[in-house]
Amino acid sequence: MTLKNWCAVLAISAGAVTSAMAQSSLAPSPNAKQDAPRLVEVMSMAQLQHLKLWYAGKAKNWDLAAYELRQLTNSLAEAAIFYPSIPISNVTTMKEPLLSVADAIAAGDDRKFAVSMRGLTDGCNACHSSMGRGFIAIGVPNGGQPPANQIFSPSGNGRKK
Ligand code: HEC
Repeated sequence: MTLKNWCAVLAISAGAVTSAMAQSSLAPSPNAKQDAPRLVEVMSMAQLQHLKLWYAGKAKNWDLAAYELRQLTNSLAEAAIFYPSIPISNVTTMKEPLLSVADAIAAGDDRKFAVSMRGLTDGCNACHSSMGRGFIAIGVPNGGQPPANQIFSPSGNGRKK
């Protein structure tokens, strides 16, 4: 295919994507329109919190894990509040897995933590699939590099302990 043809194909598919998104009615609630973060901003934050939560738990830094879990829970709540077109049942089904991660953190149980994190991640993907976003597939990190600018071990900042 020539470069010119390729550009034409790209332009057409970009147009199709835009109209598909326009039809998806993922508009912020009218009350919140002015200040609402874009849903992808809330979700990108959730992605980072989910990642940090995993590494904190893996490092058995339960204080940090509890903190990240709270942030993540807030992000999901924010998504539901600002974007009422997200089916509420998709949000409420996250409650059980979130509680299960909280239990594992409270117990300092790393095996339970790993299992509950997989359950939570299934919840992320279930909502994405049901909203025509099945291509956004979340997993628990599999040996990858964590955000390299944060120290995850409990004594990370050298001041604690
Ligand atoms: C209740 C529904 C729901 C849940 C639960 C949910 N998401 Fe999302 N997520 C969405 C929707 C809808 C979009 C697409 C937003 C758009 O296209 O404007 C999205 C998009 C995303 C994106 C794409 C953002 C980007 O710009 O790349 C990421 C990453 C993401 N979600 C992560 C997560 C993670 C991690 C979890 C679980 C901790 C999660 N989501 C749970 C509904 C959900």
